[in-house]
Amino acid sequence: MTDQAPAAQKDGPDIPGKSIVASRTTLSHIMTHNDTNLLGTVHGGVIMKLVDDAAGAVAGRHSGGPAVTASMDEMAFFEPVRVGDLVHVKAQVNWTGRTSMEVGVRVLAERWNESTPPTHVGSAYLVFTAVDADGRPRRVPPVVAETEQDRRRYQEAQIRRTHRLARRRAIMELREKRAAEGYED
Ligand SMILES: CC(C)(COP(=O)(O)OP(=O)(O)OC[C@H]1O[C@@H](n2cnc3c(N)ncnc32)[C@H](O)[C@@H]1OP(=O)(O)O)[C@@H](O)C(=O)NCCC(=O)NCCS
Repeated sequence: MTDQAPAAQKDGPDIPGKSIVASRTTLSHIMTHNDTNLLGTVHGGVIMKLVDDAAGAVAGRHSGGPAVTASMDEMAFFEPVRVGDLVHVKAQVNWTGRTSMEVGVRVLAERWNESTPPTHVGSAYLVFTAVDADGRPRRVPPVVAETEQDRRRYQEAQIRRTHRLARRRAIMELREKRAAEGYED
């Protein structure tokens, strides 16, 4: 593949690549009554916390140090999660840039006491930026996608990255245009 992250490493010596497997993580948790919303199912925020925790562990492992959540997008919930569900949050690095990483997360749920196949209840994509002791972005090892599935995820992450940047640029341009026209909001 020619679209791997080394191209993004423009300054300093090359950092050796790191495999996705080295930082892939699963976090599992049984849902209890403390986790419910007013409808009696599990609160989306509880799932999002687990997603951020698992993704943060992956980002920290991949980058070899602290990493902060820069953004979380496409958090989708496909099925409600219930009290008594054993939730598995599977996370892996999909893509790396110079100092940031996209982590993909898949959320599965199964009854804690039944041997039925888990249901895919949610997915999310988060961007983490590796930071130094002063909170400044630091470079990350390029991720090495070794399987066709991981190469597909890498390419899809690049599409999301392009869209994120384009959206941010378009919004900034609109704000500058409105400011130039005298709007103060
Ligand atoms: C994330 C943060 C470190 C970025 O700092 P910054 O000075 O804006 O740095 P830069 O603009 O140079 O961006 C650094 C990298 O982060 C990425 N990034 C920054 N903001 C981003 C956003 N909103 N979404 C996606 N990526 C983002 C950039 O694309 C860049 O990636 P690259 O080096 O791979 O190209 C800073 O905004 C921050 O500390 N935010 C608070 C994080 C936090 O507290 N999270 C919650 C608790 S962990």
